[in-house]
Amino acid sequence: MSVVVELKNIHKTFGTNHVLRGVSFEVHRGQVAAIIGQSGSGKSTALRCMDRLETIDSGELNVCGHALHDPKVDLKPLRRDVGIVFQSYNLFPHLTVEQNVTLAPRAVKGMKASEAQEIAAAVLAKVGLKEKMGAYPEQLSGGQQQRVAIARSLAMEPKLMLFDEVTSALDPQLTGEVLRVMEQLAADGMTMVLVTHEMAFARNVAHQVIYMRDGKVHESGTADILRQPSTRELADFISADA
Ligand SMILES: Nc1ncnc2c1ncn2[C@@H]1O[C@H](COP(=O)(O)OP(=O)(O)OP(=O)(O)O)[C@@H](O)[C@H]1O
Ligand SMILES: [Mg+2]
Repeated sequence: MSVVVELKNIHKTFGTNHVLRGVSFEVHRGQVAAIIGQSGSGKSTALRCMDRLETIDSGELNVCGHALHDPKVDLKPLRRDVGIVFQSYNLFPHLTVEQNVTLAPRAVKGMKASEAQEIAAAVLAKVGLKEKMGAYPEQLSGGQQQRVAIARSLAMEPKLMLFDEVTSALDPQLTGEVLRVMEQLAADGMTMVLVTHEMAFARNVAHQVIYMRDGKVHESGTADILRQPSTRELADFISADA
């Protein structure tokens, strides 16, 4: 199986705060990896390093064949290969759903308007929002806006999708809508790394679960570790969530 994401002994410091303390894991093509752990354990930082939104201090980080530990790495092809979606969806309020989705393919890939519109229609259908093409973000629910944000990433036809707590701002019903879209993406074979507090989702969808604690991978394995954790700390973390 080919490796899409490879972290080898990653360290990252913010000032005197040593946030990532030797993080290593791999994600293979078509696999879903869920990163879980306490607030401040370094989950978002690890994810942001994978899109080079943060640079690493040491270690090796390969993403979609790009060597991100190399200070001279070309970010353009990386950004084409990797899509990232955050808790805050940050759609452009003055643009329609369709315009939000076609913007990057037009600007970054230089796609013709007609081609970008075709892709927009396809990705919006995928997230169940084809009928909202002409709507403005403020006319949509939070869950719908988040699904547009996912569609916007998909329109770039990424090889890897990163999700950071994308449902944290949503109520349970809207959370379900977004999780179903992500589940469908996983079923379609998209390689995904997601930071999540949704334990049921991690248990049902993730091929690999990574429990981070104090800037390290404290325990990792298949989703079975959520049913039968080996370490006391993961057991406590899971029971705190229940
Ligand atoms: N840009 C930054 N500058 C300085 N410190 C930062 C920065 N980003 C994160 N940190 C610090 O790094 C540590 C880890 O933060 P991170 O956001 O990765 O945690 P997290 O596991 O995602 O937490 P949460 O579950 O609350 O989102 C925290 O102590 C945080 O304050
Ligand atoms: Mg975070």
